[in-house]
Amino acid sequence: MDMVNANEENVHELLEAHAQIWNYMFSFIRSMSLKCAIDLGIPEIIQNHGKPMTITGLVAVLPTLNPSKACDISRLMRILVHSGFFARQKLDNDAQEVGYVLTNTCRLLLKNIPLSVTPYLKLSLDPFCVKPCQVLGTWFQNDDSTPFVTAYGKTTYSYCGHETSVKNMFNQGMASDAQLIASVLIDKCKGAFEGLESLVDVGGGTGTLAKALADAFPHLDCTVLDLPHVVDGLQGGNNLKYVGGNMFEAVPAADAVILKWIFHNWNDEECVTILKRCKEAISDGGKVGGKVMIVDMALMDEEKVNEENSKMFETQLFLDMLMMAMTTGRERQEEEWAKLFCAAGFSDYKIFPILGLRSLIEVYP
Ligand SMILES: C[S@@+](CC[C@H](N)C(=O)[O-])C[C@H]1O[C@@H](n2cnc3c(N)ncnc32)[C@H](O)[C@@H]1O
Repeated sequence: MDMVNANEENVHELLEAHAQIWNYMFSFIRSMSLKCAIDLGIPEIIQNHGKPMTITGLVAVLPTLNPSKACDISRLMRILVHSGFFARQKLDNDAQEVGYVLTNTCRLLLKNIPLSVTPYLKLSLDPFCVKPCQVLGTWFQNDDSTPFVTAYGKTTYSYCGHETSVKNMFNQGMASDAQLIASVLIDKCKGAFEGLESLVDVGGGTGTLAKALADAFPHLDCTVLDLPHVVDGLQGGNNLKYVGGNMFEAVPAADAVILKWIFHNWNDEECVTILKRCKEAISDGGKVGGKVMIVDMALMDEEKVNEENSKMFETQLFLDMLMMAMTTGRERQEEEWAKLFCAAGFSDYKIFPILGLRSLIEVYP
């Protein structure tokens, strides 16, 4: 098709291609509109209303809304209805008037529920993550280790250590994700923790996952290992303790170690070093022989992508690009994981695809 000179025959194709580019180009408007609704507290207001809420009712109670902008809230709600976060419902069977309700997806964004995704959304849409993505092109042409370094002049974790507000936002985002994963692990994978007497959560952040495991399995001694600036001042409990340290140097001994959302932050060489430290930590192995438990992605095989799973694959690719922007890491396919395990001296592994976009991967010495 001659795209440069539009004539009658190709004009349809030309406009279709143009529309596709515009749709892609403006995709960020989706996430920014959602962020806006969350910033304004719209999901909570509609939820607390207890029945479909009219636009008039909504703008009347939005606490921080400038009245001159009230008429624009319906435009925000229109795109969020289209995206499936809100739905329109009749106020009652006879009435013509409609109001907004939350969809199931939107309920997961309510701030005060235990499994809220909102802290993770706020982190992902903050300049902390967005700015490095804006300089990807520059980074491809310079010597910086990551686009994050190009954007902020420091590596991600060093920056977090120096900026208290960023550190808090990062830790809260991670903690909310850990809460979700903990509840699925405890619900669906109890057996994976059977027989273990001790467990270290390596890079365990502020300890949300370890705390949940310590509560669910009172006989399991749980340790959280993370950088000193993350764990300093945190209080453990009966079967939970915090250790400040460096996972590249040493991991406390235990029957098993768990690493959630760690390996995708690091390049292959760095991953092999962490895995070796984990292998040393479980070398005693206790009664059950020791294992490394990884919560991370096993990237889908491109050839197996179809209409049904294509969105899931695209989301995995988003995360891979985000890792490129933020860290030296990447999302990995099964063969890439297998190479890492072999290089670190492990003999076997098993992937359990039970965590949606992510998997539980068990690695054995
Ligand atoms: C992506 S976060 C994951 C946190 C937690 N595992 C979770 O998923 O909720 C990575 C964690 O690794 C920690 N980390 C980074 N470098 C580390 C190091 N050298 N030693 C120990 N922890 C480290 C960070 O402070 C951060 O808490």
